Amino acid sequence: RNNFDQQRQKTLALIKPDAYTNIGKIIQAIEDNNFTINNLKMCKLNLRDAQEFYAEHRGKPFYDELTNYMCSDFIVAIELVGNDCINQWKKVMGPTNCQVARVDAPQSLRAIFGQDGVKNSLHGSDSATSAKRELDFFFSKQSQLKKTAIFKNCTC
Ligand code: TYD
Repeated sequence: RNNFDQQRQKTLALIKPDAYTNIGKIIQAIEDNNFTINNLKMCKLNLRDAQEFYAEHRGKPFYDELTNYMCSDFIVAIELVGNDCINQWKKVMGPTNCQVARVDAPQSLRAIFGQDGVKNSLHGSDSATSAKRELDFFFSKQSQLKKTAIFKNCTC
């Protein structure tokens, strides 16, 4: 590991629709792994938002399923800060495919909370460049994404 890896970084952690009801356990895991939460927003994407967020995957066989899933329910966007946190968060999440995660990294969050290859419960930025873009997507002043009421069935 070089000094660059050790630098204090920001990353976007996203709790995806299949996992937002596990927000408590996931935030506990974030704290247990010594990340700092710098910002947090619960919201719901529309299809256009989801397509923009995952634009790099446009044209791939899983793109439609992925983008439809991403706007199927609430998500929670979390800005994490910490040393080397881009890689550290990816490690805590585990492999992209949950079935692989359950075999190769059974303690990882995707192994615990994910359903399958597409519904894999969590996202993490894969580089400093994507972290900047993704954090701006959710948290910049220009972001169109509005905070959503947490209790979707609340009648009060
Ligand atoms: P990717 O950026 O490759 O993985 P990661 O989320 O681990 O950075 O892919 C983005 C999402 O697309 C991934 O979280 C789940 C979905 N996906 C599939 O459904 N099938 C696939 O074969 C891949 C590679 C990804």
